[in-house]
Amino acid sequence: MIDNKNFRALGIIGSPLNQSLSPFLHNYWINQYKISSYYLPLPIKNISNIKVSLKTLNFLGLNVTIPYKKKIIKHLDSIDKSAKTTNAVNTLLFKNNKMKGYNTDIIGFKKGLSNKDWNKNRPVIVFGAGGAAEAVVYFLKSENIKNIIIINRTKSNAAKIIKRYKNIKYDYKMNDYMKEAGLIINTTSLGMLGYPDLKVKLNKINKEAIIYDIVYNPINTKLIKNAKKYNLTNITGLEMFIEQARASFSIWFNIQPEINNKLITSIKKRISKI
Ligand code: ATR
Repeated sequence: MIDNKNFRALGIIGSPLNQSLSPFLHNYWINQYKISSYYLPLPIKNISNIKVSLKTLNFLGLNVTIPYKKKIIKHLDSIDKSAKTTNAVNTLLFKNNKMKGYNTDIIGFKKGLSNKDWNKNRPVIVFGAGGAAEAVVYFLKSENIKNIIIINRTKSNAAKIIKRYKNIKYDYKMNDYMKEAGLIINTTSLGMLGYPDLKVKLNKINKEAIIYDIVYNPINTKLIKNAKKYNLTNITGLEMFIEQARASFSIWFNIQPEINNKLITSIKKRISKI
């Protein structure tokens, strides 16, 4: 319900954005709650002028995705505790002409694990060292996980996370941890629509291990298919996607939007079947 006088735009910045279902999901809720807004995909190649652009256009807020979750911070007027502790922002709110950053990935990630019985004494392997990995590591530390191994293409990016915590190791391959790991999490873009797959052999893994891929489009990534092949408990990125979006929506509108089966079916219909 667009009312020109009160209209405030929303959107998602990232590159690429082909895989994102955030515009669909937020516009669904905007319609449901009859809000004068519209959520736009904004695939952008650099963020140097982001503040001026969005202030000029009087945006209400934004989601931020790969590769800008960390890079955006220096453009903001302030960040809340969730963004400070993770050093990553996935949600912005423009209020009183100021841009404030939040991180709702932590809430989303936690939701995906909420009904799963995982052995917290076993090591946890985290693939990736970007903004999403920051949220995941923060959550794991809040659960008192003692042994975390980050596996990432670029060692220096992993080092930036490791130096802020105790007892996190870096490695470039996971074979050595196969028999021990209790939880294996993909936070990289690998497996996402338009990206190569994350190549991990699960043949030597212990049967207790849980595989969590935060990629939600496609839902059955190579990693999830592989987990199914070895009868491992697996968690797709769908719940995290919906829950982080729900938390962003409530930052913008102070409404906890409804999630029902009809909505989940509509999202699944839009997810790539690859
Ligand atoms: P953001 O901070 O917005 O989440 P990012 O910093 O680009 O985005 O993080 C993406 C993650 O996916 C990083 O861990 C990145 O690895 P690098 O630190 O080596 O860049 C990982 N990633 C993205 N594309 C990849 C690829 N083709 N192969 C391996 N890792 C990749």
